[in-house]
Amino acid sequence: MIKVDLSGAKQFLSEAVDYDAALKAFDTLVTGSGAGADFTGWMELPQRIRDTELDRICECAAKIRSRSKALVVIGIGGSYLGARGAIELLRPIPAKGDPTVYFAGNGVSPDYLCDLIERIGDDDFDVNVISKSGTTMEPAVSFRIFRELLHKKYGDKADEHIIMTTDAHRGALKEQGDKYGWESFIVPDDVGGRFSVLSAVGLLPMAVAGIDVRKVIDCAIEEMAQLSVRDVSNSAIEYAAARNCLYRKGYGVEILACYEPSFRFMGEWWKQLYGESEGKDGVGIFPASVEYTADLHSMGQYIQEGVRFLMETVVTFEHSRKNYVVPFDSENADGLNYLSGRDLADISTVVTEAVRQAHISGGVPNIQLFADRRDEAGFASVVCFFEMACGISGYLTGVNPFNQPGVEAYKKNMFRMLGKPGC
Ligand code: PA5
Repeated sequence: MIKVDLSGAKQFLSEAVDYDAALKAFDTLVTGSGAGADFTGWMELPQRIRDTELDRICECAAKIRSRSKALVVIGIGGSYLGARGAIELLRPIPAKGDPTVYFAGNGVSPDYLCDLIERIGDDDFDVNVISKSGTTMEPAVSFRIFRELLHKKYGDKADEHIIMTTDAHRGALKEQGDKYGWESFIVPDDVGGRFSVLSAVGLLPMAVAGIDVRKVIDCAIEEMAQLSVRDVSNSAIEYAAARNCLYRKGYGVEILACYEPSFRFMGEWWKQLYGESEGKDGVGIFPASVEYTADLHSMGQYIQEGVRFLMETVVTFEHSRKNYVVPFDSENADGLNYLSGRDLADISTVVTEAVRQAHISGGVPNIQLFADRRDEAGFASVVCFFEMACGISGYLTGVNPFNQPGVEAYKKNMFRMLGKPGC
């Protein structure tokens, strides 16, 4: 389970963290008595997926790995961010022989699409189209294009290279898939897109990239069990309580930081999870993310001295997977011999603490989250922790954490301006 250290936040709170309210919000979540309770199936999703689709996901991934050099994952929002976050975190550089997982349909850029098509070239590829509603415009357009490419390349075998992940019962995608016999996986009815990474939505692309998804799911089952304990030592309750106390003190922006560059897209996943869940009814913490130490040389100035409405949450993987010692140089022209013989992991630990102290003294409350290792278990712990804390935090904020009515506003304008019939 993720460990939470609130010692860098407490001095910014005049009173103790309100755990009573957080426990009440936890009860609302786990008893299914709050708004949006129909969409809390993600709490049992790891167990459910192990009992249902997991074997077939692994078989499908093995088939793709054996026949294709690329998998094009077409989806947007919750239908792609989790898979991309996981793959960048755990397989930032594809191993030799592994297919490359590309993402499409998360925008409408012709440049990106053409570059991707050019990059795939003559390589064998499969397409995993992911859309819960089956009607989202951006992935639907990309899918139409890639379907045409598959037909040009594979002729009447094209349909064998399409895997759809969508609603079990409805939607345009589901209808097409049933008609043409595409292999299909389910986005469960009671799981919203941003909570779906531990369903086929995330697991199939992850497995194709070489991630051990059985291990992810085994660990997630354990994590969810631990995070379901009603106690203030439950780290999801601790984190949700602390960030909401800080929010009420005027810290309206939370920056999620990590010293692993490969965590960058997990930051994007987290932003959707918290932004869509909490930002409504005129309230909600604004989620932002940074990559350290790189962004200390860009955003560091603002974080240290800008408007004091920032809180900082830092994710640390306690054990690095690899080590590298700074070499000794007899000339020492760069003046770095004071670091020679020291491991980069130790240097990172010192840097983390130095930054933490500087930011706290600059007026930025700090929450530290510790995961064990950047591996399948560490990934599962991060996902389950943030999902659970998000549900609790949403109810603490007083909103329905499981809807996203605001996302429709741009779609209405877009469809009308593009001339969609009936809009
Ligand atoms: O979290 C959500 O519900 C959204 O971000 C959706 O995932 C996103 O809009 C894509 O929707 P769909 O999967 O229906 O294409």
